[in-house]
Amino acid sequence: MKTVKDILASKGSEFAAVTPDTSVLTAAQKLSDKGIGSLLVLQNDKLVGLVSERDVAYKLVCAGKSAAETPVEAIMSTHVLCVTPLQTVEECMALMTDKRVRHLPVLQDDRIAGIVSIGDAVKAVIAEQQFIIEQLESYISQ
Ligand SMILES: NC(=O)c1ccc[n+]([C@@H]2O[C@H](COP(=O)([O-])OP(=O)(O)OC[C@H]3O[C@@H](n4cnc5c(N)ncnc54)[C@H](O)[C@@H]3O)[C@@H](O)[C@H]2O)c1
Repeated sequence: MKTVKDILASKGSEFAAVTPDTSVLTAAQKLSDKGIGSLLVLQNDKLVGLVSERDVAYKLVCAGKSAAETPVEAIMSTHVLCVTPLQTVEECMALMTDKRVRHLPVLQDDRIAGIVSIGDAVKAVIAEQQFIIEQLESYISQ
């Protein structure tokens, strides 16, 4: 069964982050430049929130706020669910589905070790299923 550690081994442990006082405009430009859907929000290296494309759409655009004048801390989610490298991909998917989140920061010994998105989890499950199918096909054709 694949784990968070396996996902990070394949996609890397880099993470993109901003500070709470960063403007939403700068954060949105960072999301766009990197082609990612979320940013961790760190203050003095401590995780204090997570801001997603959805936060920008729902809490800024729909609320008619100015992206240049609104800090990330005004729209970020502060109750951030995290996982550890040893948790399974299935556990991550269950957590994301149950709690309706699409990004899980990975914590190891209180330090951020990466981030896993719902797309990363789906990709890992598909790869694992493909491996099993190939094993079965090879067994049948023997
Ligand atoms: N082909 C792939 O390898 C792959 C992997 C993941 C997602 N996707 C696709 O991308 C689309 C959107 O994906 P999503 O909904 O999972 O979310 P997403 O757009 O946020 O994720 C895309 C990638 O960015 C990474 N990412 C997100 N936030 C990050 C951050 N703060 N720091 C560093 N990396 C970060 C994710 O881990 C993921 O690998 C979907 O269509 C999905 O199928 C493809």
